[in-house]
Amino acid sequence: MSDPIITADNLDLYYGDFQALHGIHLDFEPHQISALIGPSGCGKSTFLRCLNRMNDMIDGVTITGMVKFHDQNIYSPQTNLVDLRKEIGMVFQQPNPFPFSVYDNITYGLRIAGVRDKQKLDEIVERSLKQAAVWDEVKDNLYDNALSFSGGQQQRICIARVLAVSPSVILMDEPTSALDPISSAKIENTLLELKKEYTIIIVTHNLQQASRISDKTAFFMEGRVVEYDDTSKMFVNPDNKQTEDYVSGRFG
Ligand SMILES: Nc1ncnc2c1ncn2[C@@H]1O[C@H](COP(=O)(O)OP(=O)(O)O)[C@@H](O)[C@H]1O
Ligand SMILES: [Mg+2]
Repeated sequence: MSDPIITADNLDLYYGDFQALHGIHLDFEPHQISALIGPSGCGKSTFLRCLNRMNDMIDGVTITGMVKFHDQNIYSPQTNLVDLRKEIGMVFQQPNPFPFSVYDNITYGLRIAGVRDKQKLDEIVERSLKQAAVWDEVKDNLYDNALSFSGGQQQRICIARVLAVSPSVILMDEPTSALDPISSAKIENTLLELKKEYTIIIVTHNLQQASRISDKTAFFMEGRVVEYDDTSKMFVNPDNKQTEDYVSGRFG
């Protein structure tokens, strides 16, 4: 077992007076896909957003405890949020490409970082779109508005946009739940390829998806982690009765 790339330790989160996360402890290993599952409202998205400080943007949020990325506490005042979110990128449920060309979507982060070399940008556009398994579908229309593509293509463009800045971790919040089954399957296959180079933490309400693609699964309920283990064990022989009831579909 390798050293964790991200560790949450004793993490509590409050929205105003409401405590949404209770003492979360989770380690994520590099080059694995970890799935976060659990009933609606149990804190999966809230937890995911803690991992690259997206909750900082929400008023009235209080967070205590620690999230470490390698050895760095990301909640320390020294953390540069732009750098952090480059290292730990995020893909959302609804595809959210910017309303401009595919090419400009993919190069957006690089241009902000000051990359101007056209040949380098071209290379990264091609590499990122290939990694996101959408190159063949968009390569002849790179200067078309990204919004003119299908939902599934837009989502893969969004994945490519994250990949373009070379993150080490990709957070995904139900990235296929707005997509048709064929597009979802393409994205699942893409993730299985991407884990060779990246670490992926994915929220999914689709238990089959979690069992198909993830190495580890964390089961959340009411802001707590009930159980966290190898996916093969979680779905076949979990330790906890609540986990068993949930993965066998007895409540949702
Ligand atoms: N911005 C917010 N302000 C207040 N409460 C919130 C906010 N976002 C989520 N919550 C609450 O926190 C709890 C966990 O929500 P969430 O993380 O979205 O759950 P999940 O992703 O598992 O469905 C829920 O009770 C939800 O209503
Ligand atoms: Mg959610």
